[in-house]
Amino acid sequence: MAIFVNESQRLFHLQTAASSYIFQILADGSAGQLYYGPRLPQQTSYPNLTIREERDATSALSEEMPDFQRELLKQEYSGPGRGDYRPRAFQLTYPNGSTTSEFEYQGYQITPGKDRLTDLPASFGDPATATTLTVTFKDRGHDLFLTLTYAVFPTSNVITRSTRLSNQGPTVTIDQVASAQLDLPDADYDLLSFPGSWARERHLNRHAIQPGTQTVASSRMASSHQENPFVILARPQTDNHQGAAIGCNLIYSGSFATSITVDQFATSRLLTGINPADFRWQLRSGTSFQTPEAVFTYTSDGLNALSQQLTDFYRDHLTNQHFARAPRPVLINNWEATLMNFTEQELMPLVKQAAQVGIELFVLDDGWFGHRNDDRSSLGDWFTNQPKFLNGIGGFAHRVHQAGLQFGLWLEPEMISLDSDLYQHHPDWLVQTPGRQLTTARHQYVLDLTQPAVGDYLFETISAIIQDTHLDYLKWDMNRNLTAPYSPTLPADRQGEFAHRYLLGVYRLYDRLTKAFPDLLIESCASGGGRFDLGMLYYAPQAWCSDDTDAIERLRIQDGSSYGYPLSSWGAHVSAVPNDQVGRLTPLATRAAVAYFGDFGYELDLNQLPASELAAIQDQVKFYKQYRQLFQQGRFYRLDRPQPDPNVYAWEVVNADRTQAIAARFQILNEPNPPYLRIYLTGLDPERYYQVNDDPTTYSGAELIHAGYAVPRIMDRTAQPKPLSDFHANLFVITAID
Ligand code: DGJ
Repeated sequence: MAIFVNESQRLFHLQTAASSYIFQILADGSAGQLYYGPRLPQQTSYPNLTIREERDATSALSEEMPDFQRELLKQEYSGPGRGDYRPRAFQLTYPNGSTTSEFEYQGYQITPGKDRLTDLPASFGDPATATTLTVTFKDRGHDLFLTLTYAVFPTSNVITRSTRLSNQGPTVTIDQVASAQLDLPDADYDLLSFPGSWARERHLNRHAIQPGTQTVASSRMASSHQENPFVILARPQTDNHQGAAIGCNLIYSGSFATSITVDQFATSRLLTGINPADFRWQLRSGTSFQTPEAVFTYTSDGLNALSQQLTDFYRDHLTNQHFARAPRPVLINNWEATLMNFTEQELMPLVKQAAQVGIELFVLDDGWFGHRNDDRSSLGDWFTNQPKFLNGIGGFAHRVHQAGLQFGLWLEPEMISLDSDLYQHHPDWLVQTPGRQLTTARHQYVLDLTQPAVGDYLFETISAIIQDTHLDYLKWDMNRNLTAPYSPTLPADRQGEFAHRYLLGVYRLYDRLTKAFPDLLIESCASGGGRFDLGMLYYAPQAWCSDDTDAIERLRIQDGSSYGYPLSSWGAHVSAVPNDQVGRLTPLATRAAVAYFGDFGYELDLNQLPASELAAIQDQVKFYKQYRQLFQQGRFYRLDRPQPDPNVYAWEVVNADRTQAIAARFQILNEPNPPYLRIYLTGLDPERYYQVNDDPTTYSGAELIHAGYAVPRIMDRTAQPKPLSDFHANLFVITAID
C-alpha cells in the first residue's frame, strides 16, 4: 500500500520506498502541503508539521481563525484572491469577471495502477507498481470541480501529479492552470537547470535560489533549445555522490513554465505547467481541461541516484514499452556527409560501405522528397524526388534492405514550404494571423495541426511512405518555432487555445502513427535538441539531442542531458573532422568514445576515409554492439571525485548485477608534467574482484571505488611521432572475475 488516508484528520500520506509526501485538508476545505522528503513512519497526525503562529500584516481566513493565514501556510494548489500572495497555481475568470476561487474538499478516490491520459503523453503503471489518488474539490459558488491526481510509484521513488478542471456550469476562462505546486518549508536549495541554445543544448547551470521568483520557461510553443522542463532543487552540499535533491520534470513539449519563488519567510514554492503566457482556455459547460503530468522524485543519495531513479522510471513507466529495453540499431545518417546533394547512385556506395563495417541502419535525411535540393522548397510534399531516385523512394529502400541494412527516413511533418504542391492546394493550412506579416524561419512555415484535416493528410501520406519503404526508423524533425499563432477554425474567444491545441494535434499524429506502425522506431528532432522532453520521449524512444556533433561540445551536452534523461534517449554520432559546427579536430577514438554513451551512430562519408580509419570504425561498431546493452540500459554515473575538474569529464555505466562496467575519462586539454591521474569508479561490488582492460592485475571493487584506478599519462614526451594529445579519451572495460 502506497497511500494512507486518515479520514478523520483528512490527512494523505503518499509513501515510496524512500520518500514520503504528506498533505492535509485545511479548515477552509483547501489542501495544505505538509512534507516532501525522506520516508516518514505512518502516523495518525503530524502536529510538528502543522504548527501555526499568527503574524502581523497578513490576512486571515476569518475572525475566528486569526492564525489561519494563507501566506504562512504551505499549500497544495493555490489560487488568487484569498490572501496567498505568492505566485498562483491557477487563475480562472468567472462569468462576472472575478478571479477569486473557493474550492472546497469533496472527497477522494484511490485506484490501483496508473492510467494513461487520453490526449496527452503520460506515465502508466499496473496495480503492482502504481497507485493513483484523486482528490476532488468543488467551487463553492459554481458547478466547477478541481481534481488533483497523484500517482505513487513506490519502487521508482516517483510521484506524479496533474490537475483537471471540470465544468458543469456557465463558461469560465482558464487563465492559467499549473500541473503541480510544491511548497517547501525553507529556501536552502540550489536550482539546477539546463539552459542552452541551438548546438549547445542543456548545459548544467547551478545557483542558490534567491528571494523572489526565478523561472525556467519556454514560450516558443516547443520545450526549446533555450531551456528544458527538467529542474532539480538540491541542498547546497549535494553532489553527484551524496546529498538530498528533488527532481521535477513535465511531460509536455510546448510552452512551459517552472518557477521557484522564495518568499518573505524564506519558504520556497515550485510551480510547473503550461506557460500561462501562451495559454487561455474557455471551459464550457460539460467539458474538462486536463493539464500535462508533472514527475517528482526525491533522493537523499546524490544526483547520480536522482538521475538513475528517473531514468528507470521513464524506462518502465513512460517510454513505449515496445522499445524501452530493445537494443537500438547502430545507424549511419547521410546529413553531414551529403546535405541535400545526393542521388541514389551516389548514396549506394555509402550504404554498401556501411554494411561492410557492421552498421545496421541507413538513415536518409532531408532532401529526398518533392523537388527539394535546398531548404526553400517542398516541405509537405512527401513523395519521391524523382530525379534523385529513379525507382522511387520505395525502390531505394528496397536496395538498402537488400544490402542487409534497415532503412530510415527523415521527415518534417509539421512544416510546409510556400514552394510546394501542398501550399498550392491548401494555403489555409499554413499558420498565420490575418493582417499580420508572415514570419519565416529557414524559409519554412508551420502547418495548422489544430485542424483535423491537416492531421489526417499527414497520417495518410506518412503511412503510405512507411508502407512503400517498409520503413524501420523515422527521424521526425521540427526546425522552427511557431509565430503569430492563429487558426481560422477557432472562434475569436478561443484563439488563446491555439498553442496547446497545436501540440495536442502533434501528439494525436504521433499516437496514430505509433499505433498503426508499432515496430517503427521514431527519433524525434528539432534542429537537434529543440524539443528534447518527456512528451516526445513517450512516443519517440530516442531524440537527436543536438546538431552539434563535435565530441568536446557533446561532453557538456550529454553530461547535462544525463541529469534528467536516459542514455538510450539520445542519438550520438561520430562525424568528420574538422567538425561542421566548431571546426575542431578531435581523434576518431575520442569521437567514438563520447558517442558510445548514447544511441551510437555515424554521420560522415565513410568512402572519404583512409583504410586505417575504416578499420577502426569496424572495430568501434563491433565494440559498441558487444556492450550496447550496457551503454543503452546500464546504470549511468557521472564521475567527478575527488573534486570536479572543468578540464575532465568522466562517465561510467554498470550492469544490473555489477559484473560489467565501462568507464571513460575525457581530458579536454593536455597538461605538461601532470600530477598522477586516477579515475575513481563507482557502482561496483566492493566485495568482488575485477579486471580492467587487459591489465593482468585484478582489483577489488572496494579498491577501484576508494583508491581509484591509475590512468596512464596522456602523452609520453619521447614518443615519435608526437601524438595528438588534446581531446583525449581513455576507456576502461571493467569485468568481474568469477
Ligand atoms: C536539423 C536536424 O537536426 C539535422 O540533423 C538535419 O536533419 C537537418 N535538420 C535537415 O534539414
